[in-house]
Amino acid sequence: MKVGVVVWAEGTTVKFRIREKALVERGQLLKVDTKYAKFILRVYDFKPESLLTQAEIARLSKKKEDGENIEIYDKGLRLYDTALATIICQIDSEGHVHGPTTVPPLFSEVETLNKHDLEQLRLDTGDLPIGYIRVGHKTSEAIVALDGAKTIPHHILVCGVTGAGKSNLGKVLAYSIMRTKGKYSLVLFDCESEYFQGASPAQLGLVHAPEAEDYLLYVTPRVQEPCKLKVTIMYKGAEIERRVEAYPLAIGYDQLKPDDFTLTGEFTHPQEELLWLIYKLRKRDWLSFLLEAPPDMIYRFVKKLAAKNTINTLKRKLKHLLGSGDIFVEDAPPFNTLDAIIGAAMRGCVVLIDIPYATEGEEKLLATATARRIFDTYEKLRKHAPEDWEKLPYVLIAVEEAHRYLSKTSLTSTGELRENIFSIISKRGRKYKVGALYITQMPGELIEPVIRQSLTKIILPLPTKPDYTRIIEYSPYLDEASQEIKTLDKGEALLVSPPSGIRFAVPIKVFSYEELVGKRLSEEIASRYTPARKIRRFKPLKKINEEAVVLS
Ligand SMILES: Nc1ncnc2c1ncn2[C@@H]1O[C@H](COP(=O)(O)OP(=O)(O)OP(=O)(O)O)[C@@H](O)[C@H]1O
Ligand SMILES: [Mg+2]
Repeated sequence: MKVGVVVWAEGTTVKFRIREKALVERGQLLKVDTKYAKFILRVYDFKPESLLTQAEIARLSKKKEDGENIEIYDKGLRLYDTALATIICQIDSEGHVHGPTTVPPLFSEVETLNKHDLEQLRLDTGDLPIGYIRVGHKTSEAIVALDGAKTIPHHILVCGVTGAGKSNLGKVLAYSIMRTKGKYSLVLFDCESEYFQGASPAQLGLVHAPEAEDYLLYVTPRVQEPCKLKVTIMYKGAEIERRVEAYPLAIGYDQLKPDDFTLTGEFTHPQEELLWLIYKLRKRDWLSFLLEAPPDMIYRFVKKLAAKNTINTLKRKLKHLLGSGDIFVEDAPPFNTLDAIIGAAMRGCVVLIDIPYATEGEEKLLATATARRIFDTYEKLRKHAPEDWEKLPYVLIAVEEAHRYLSKTSLTSTGELRENIFSIISKRGRKYKVGALYITQMPGELIEPVIRQSLTKIILPLPTKPDYTRIIEYSPYLDEASQEIKTLDKGEALLVSPPSGIRFAVPIKVFSYEELVGKRLSEEIASRYTPARKIRRFKPLKKINEEAVVLS
């Protein structure tokens, strides 16, 4: 459909006159098809063009205010609307997509995209589908997918205000990863217990996806020993049973090493030295000793090599990180949850770590201990057994509330700039197939290298200026996007992903997880149950019962 005519083109900006009665929306993708190339434009703003004099405007507006009809002489020539658009790419006659190297001629026609144009953009060639291309607030049928192998090692940044759709996107990504059947893995920490079965009865969780049986490891305080968790799902009146591998969320002190603490970035040099010294001298009970022995005794034990102040502060920080004893337990449990997590990550699973009651300290230590082990394992294998490393899946480690780990204030909490495991992964993970998925409501707080190194960015609604300007500042392809980011609705986003070949800001609508998996469930039910049974049992929307079956 024709929506306008180009009236100016300069740099990568095109101004076009909007046809009367045509609807053009901010963020909309349009095209200008010329003899030498097809230009794809993204609208970012509007501007009326007026040749009316100030006196005419004053006279006409007064008439309108007084309820009179106004008629503008030669209206089409003297007053019209224009839209400003950026050229995001050009497609040559062979269908190859390039960055813009020229501009469309004046007076060429601007049109909406059709199915063929959307296909030519090749946004669906990746193996991790996340949503549809959006046209204004409307959703098209063209799918947008990320290329996992290229995207994961270069990190993904997801930002949006509360309720913008970050967790929904997390579930959609987890689902896409499970569907690759072992090609990628994802480690997720779930503070709200919303991922496994959904945050409310109307929502769905990862357990509803059929792939959860083979590609999900659920680490949760709800089970007491490693088991297959039998979960009965009621969906649209039918009953479906899933068996998901589950591990208790309990880690013995004996599993923890000084690195798990130091890589939280919470300790000063003298405190770190003391940690290592005690570890060397006591080995097995180093942590219990540090926690329980009176400061004076520790002082004498290290032969006065550490200041009393350091000992006291270290004890306090350790207690803060170890929390109330629900996750980190002094008596070693007869299983090893951290090993199970790493094993699942190396098998290409989604590991969901359910931490509804974790304190901030526990969450930090758990995330650090997990991420550090994965990173170390991948790094060692790459160095010592490259053939085995080649076969490993790419692993994505999700960091919710990423600003808590990667803000300037958190990285300098000890008074000096201290790296933590996530700042290390952001710099070095890509060499080892380890990537981070940074999720945050406050990207304005993130340190600048993290924003720059996260090559894939998914920006959900983000109305606050310091937040979106920081993202725009450190990202190519997002110039002129501020107006649009402010006006996005829930689940709508702008996506840039140069590693996936997406070198411009694509307006997308993230899939609704409920729609995506609800469809799979309906198919599963249709193939397994007779209609009579479905009708008879049609009542509750969804209910989950579960029981733990201990593995032999
Ligand atoms: N793409 C989408 N399509 C349809 N509904 C969506 C979409 N994204 C999110 N929603 C709905 O919006 C609501 C909020 O989404 P979600 O919980 O994902 O937000 P959030 O950004 O994680 O919020 P918070 O910061 O509070 O954790 C949910 O009810 C969810 O189902
Ligand atoms: Mg959320």
